Amino acid sequence: MKKSRNITGLGKLLFYARMSLACAWRYKSPSALLKASRFTSIFFRHKLVKMASGEYKLDFYMPRYPSEAFFTALEDKVICRPPRPVSVVLSISKACAYKCPHCYQRKDDPNELPLEILIENVRKMRDFGIVAWAIEGGEPMLRFERLEAVLREVQGLEVWVNSTGHAATPEKIRRMRELGVTGVMSSIHSVDPGEHDAFTGMPGSWKRALDFLRDCQDEGVLVGFNTVLTDREVVDGGIDRIMDLAAERGCDYIQLIHPKACGAWMGKTFDASLHREAIALAKAAQVRYNSSGSRHAPVLTAQVYEESPEMLGCCCGGIDRFYVGASGEVQPCEFVNISFGNLRDVPFETAYARMRKAFAVPCEEWTCQTRAAEIAAVAGDRLPLPWKETERLVAAWQPGTPTKVYTDVGIYR
Ligand SMILES: C[S@@+](CC[C@H](N)C(=O)[O-])C[C@H]1O[C@@H](n2cnc3c(N)ncnc32)[C@H](O)[C@@H]1O
Ligand code: SF4
Ligand code: SF4
Repeated sequence: MKKSRNITGLGKLLFYARMSLACAWRYKSPSALLKASRFTSIFFRHKLVKMASGEYKLDFYMPRYPSEAFFTALEDKVICRPPRPVSVVLSISKACAYKCPHCYQRKDDPNELPLEILIENVRKMRDFGIVAWAIEGGEPMLRFERLEAVLREVQGLEVWVNSTGHAATPEKIRRMRELGVTGVMSSIHSVDPGEHDAFTGMPGSWKRALDFLRDCQDEGVLVGFNTVLTDREVVDGGIDRIMDLAAERGCDYIQLIHPKACGAWMGKTFDASLHREAIALAKAAQVRYNSSGSRHAPVLTAQVYEESPEMLGCCCGGIDRFYVGASGEVQPCEFVNISFGNLRDVPFETAYARMRKAFAVPCEEWTCQTRAAEIAAVAGDRLPLPWKETERLVAAWQPGTPTKVYTDVGIYR
């Protein structure tokens, strides 16, 4: 199977020129073109990936170019009023055999949203214009009939599946490819198999994840690691070790997720100065791994870089993204355990409108960090906080510092 490759230097410059012409042709409006250029210019520093299909990825979170999903995502930012989010993280089931100590859904209700309600809402979100889907569990391979039903509804869009590979089979992997999955991400939290397995509480999980990614890559989908490193591990050179392993395995992406005090880790505190040091190192690593000097390395997408003030800031609450948990709770982000309603009780539109009101303008401050303590202070054994408690909490929230790129584009007021 032909593999993806990275485009740098003149090739990348020519690509951006061609893309601008395509946008000019499509929008036929100088102001829309200007906004589109301003928005896409923040991705110019990223490595450009040419996929086996011949399409391009400017950024891990943006749909591939020139898909319809890409243009819809751009229109969300430059034309559509009110602006829409690009993506949803959708958990189809909490079922999982692993015991990771940090799991953000550990305290969620294990009762799955009935399949017909799930599909009805998937259709609503799709028809509303959500074009980038991160579909996950728990472990989605354990509830494959639910995964398949969702994948059938979102074919052709930008679709990523997050899975440990546990319970995957060649048939399930082939089916995902047939249903148009763009890429698959699997958690790898250490280059040491023993350390990773101790973290997940599942012997053999490290090898299982790598074998799974190899099999997915053989089917022609993009693959990568979801990696959570502690601040200490980052400071001790952990990013380079993970990047070396990913390069050796031929991965396309590494999404570096920083540890969040939510779910099973709710109430956890982090050393502030070590955290600052780790953030600076992760941001520098992203710049280095995306430079033309690292042409053959996988793309490093560090959340702390992508969500920095000079990039997109915090885009939870339906700015760019939101989360729907396995039992139907509509949350601003998987890492923020508050709910704007359960899809069994309220239509999606109601939960969405409540959420957008609470997160009216995109801000630089990371909600998962700034609001963690006050959520923990009122949280009980079950998460997320139900709507009534969420409503009380968010009523007192003041907006933070507006994110520059969105102020420049001028679409949120
Ligand atoms: C819930 S998992 C879904 C897919 C699959 N169960 C897995 O673990 O790969 C999505 C990603 O979020 C990460 N994650 C879960 N809880 C977290 C937390 N409190 N802080 C940071 N990352 C977390 C996981 O390690 C995983 O990489
Ligand atoms: S993080 Fe993923 S693999 Fe780990 S317990 Fe949670 S759902 Fe399971
Ligand atoms: S709350 Fe905001 S900053 Fe935190 S992970 Fe979600 S989108 Fe990113």
